[in-house]
Amino acid sequence: MEILIRDSLESGAKVGARVVKKIIKSNNRTVLGLATGDTPLRMYHELIRMNESGELSFKNCTTFNLDEYVGLSREDERSYFYYMMSNLFGHVDIDKKNVYLPDGNAEDLREACRKYEQQIKDAGGIDLQVLGIGGNGHIGFNEPTGSFTSRTWVKILSEQTIQDNSMYFDKQEEVPRHVVTMGIATIMESRHCLLLANGAKKADAIRKMIEGPISASCPASILQMHPRVTIVLDEEAAYLLTFKDHYKWVEKNKLDWQQF
Ligand code: F6R
Repeated sequence: MEILIRDSLESGAKVGARVVKKIIKSNNRTVLGLATGDTPLRMYHELIRMNESGELSFKNCTTFNLDEYVGLSREDERSYFYYMMSNLFGHVDIDKKNVYLPDGNAEDLREACRKYEQQIKDAGGIDLQVLGIGGNGHIGFNEPTGSFTSRTWVKILSEQTIQDNSMYFDKQEEVPRHVVTMGIATIMESRHCLLLANGAKKADAIRKMIEGPISASCPASILQMHPRVTIVLDEEAAYLLTFKDHYKWVEKNKLDWQQF
């Protein structure tokens, strides 16, 4: 795992954006996997800035989002479709027909999940998957103790995640209990993962993910088995790491072509 620790949210967001840029520039067509939530917002701002300044184009990109709530329409401000349109897609030159999110409003959810997996396959697989992490170690909405071999499917949010996400809703009871999420196996098939995390409330999950045993109790710990993971942390999210100084040493000694 490549661990990059930054002392401000802004510099972390910029590193994340440079990783995305490098992947887009090194492919004729790029398939990006994207996340929602608070964490990637600053990186999306930076990507929008790069797009506006002509530094980066999304014309040759296809995107697949990790997840969507069940039962919210695309027009609902709390849906992840709406989030992506307001925070990224609506501001960059991406062709909207190449934008995919799981359909949480499908009449046949099981069929919609199978179709999503097939669409990712047909696009040639994901070149770079952007991830956040839950305070409980979830990636996508694969909650603790879920299977490492899971595929895109309907999952039930844990009570902690419902509570964490309730800030986007008027009342906690309004948070949908069900989501459609890419599975762990789907995420693990992406060619490169970029995981971002900020703040002390992620520190325990980050320690378990990077330095703990690989266990479904911390779903993100499976990333230890992924061949190419870049993790961008702020100091607070990194503060429980035993080998923090080593990660900084490694970064300082990278060869030019290894840096973002
Ligand atoms: C969102 C997703 C989730 C979030 C995680 C962290 O698409 O898949 O795993 O990345 O819940 O959320 P924030 O960034 O709001 O702390």
